Amino acid sequence: MEKEKNAYRAHCLVLTFPSQGHINPMLEFSKRLEHKGLKVTLVTTNFISKTIYKEATSIALETISDGYDEGGRAQAESIRAYLERFRRVGSQTLAELLEKLSSSGCPVDCVVYDAFLPWALDVAKKFGLVGAAFFTQSCAVGNIYYHVHKGVLKVPLSETEILLPGSPPLEPQDMPSFIYHFGISYPAFFDMVVSQFSNIDKADWILCNTFYELEQEVVDWMTKIWPLRTIGPTIPSMFLDKRLEDDRNYGFSIFKPNTDACMKWLDDQPKGSVVYVSFGSVAALEVEQMEEIAWGLRMSNRCFLWVVRASEEAKLPKNFVEETCEKGLVVRWCPQLEVLAHEAVGCFVTHCGWNSTLEALSLSVPMVAIPQYSDQSTNAKYIMDVWKMGLKAPADEKGLVSREVAEQCIREIMEGERGNEIKKNALQLRKLAKEAVEKGGSSDKNIEEFVAKLVHS
Ligand code: UDX
Repeated sequence: MEKEKNAYRAHCLVLTFPSQGHINPMLEFSKRLEHKGLKVTLVTTNFISKTIYKEATSIALETISDGYDEGGRAQAESIRAYLERFRRVGSQTLAELLEKLSSSGCPVDCVVYDAFLPWALDVAKKFGLVGAAFFTQSCAVGNIYYHVHKGVLKVPLSETEILLPGSPPLEPQDMPSFIYHFGISYPAFFDMVVSQFSNIDKADWILCNTFYELEQEVVDWMTKIWPLRTIGPTIPSMFLDKRLEDDRNYGFSIFKPNTDACMKWLDDQPKGSVVYVSFGSVAALEVEQMEEIAWGLRMSNRCFLWVVRASEEAKLPKNFVEETCEKGLVVRWCPQLEVLAHEAVGCFVTHCGWNSTLEALSLSVPMVAIPQYSDQSTNAKYIMDVWKMGLKAPADEKGLVSREVAEQCIREIMEGERGNEIKKNALQLRKLAKEAVEKGGSSDKNIEEFVAKLVHS
């Protein structure tokens, strides 16, 4: 058994939260660890493993149960019930998996767990293992949740300006939706994001999918209290440093991408002419919002590629797809990185999920920010005012972005002087992102340090 263990430097179990925006960064981080000589086993739920589209990847996959093996989250009667059962059944099946790996000659040295699942740290510690929390969202957002957890930032919010160490002054609407709409926007998720910090002091590492040069002030502040290391952006290597050959895809997809149609269509469009629109893997838009975006795209008179998931399709205005087929392509899912990297794409109308934000930034695509919920409003604030690589489309009193506003933002980015400035900043940010993951860059050094300590512990 000892001999087998020595065949690799150390074994990391990487436990993901079962959604696309959480699997992608942890899978990509796993590849970086493997590249540095670790054995990595990615762990997801039985349901996700059964339903996901897998591309060739060298990372081993194991599963645990969230208690809903047949239908996943959709099978639970509420989000709260889902999270509670996941905690209970997940803890037990994670312990069983650790035992199984140990008795089969592949003992685990470290559990890297999505910070949304803090119970995994308790399991890791029972086994005497190294425990690393992995934050898939920005440090700015983590910092906000931490201050709520500490009771320093009180909810419901009463201030008109929120001042936190390491952050610029924020307005209430820049807060994550679970805080700004406290008690209304998914209270069970509010509890979950705040509990990320419930046992964090027991974690040996706090790994964050961001990079130092992007969030310097808040990272400096957080590093004073925790063993925090930035390891991102976790974008497939071929789009940044190109050190991991063949790494062009994340590799696990919950939806099937319509790759050929998208890429063929983009190949026929002039450079910088296309508006790419996507609201990620989870957000469900109001019918009225879909209609306003559809009209905004039409009025902008630009070519567009719009990802509308099957569950959102019925919200498109009647005959929209047929009537706009000369100018636009609507697909259910696309290979987003390939699309953003395509020279035809000139701007990204986005919900500002953290992965989409990092991807646009890494591929220097200016953004029109139309945040929907969760961390997205905070990301939108930073995109517009801190990193200056996009415009946040102002919403009306109903919280919707009108067709006129959508059109105007697209035009400003694609045609205006401000668009040129934004493009310049975007190019600079790509340079910084690339440097961070290149050999000797801030994130690369942090990953090296994590691996070295694990190997020598
Ligand atoms: C969720 C939350 O909504 C987000 O705010 C949080 O930061 C992470 O978890 P999601 O809404 O799916 O994620 O958005 P995002 O973080 O942008 O992740 C979506 C991922 O799916 C990206 O990696 C993107 O490249 C990929 N994608 C999206 C595709 O591959 N094809 C598509 O058509 C759309």
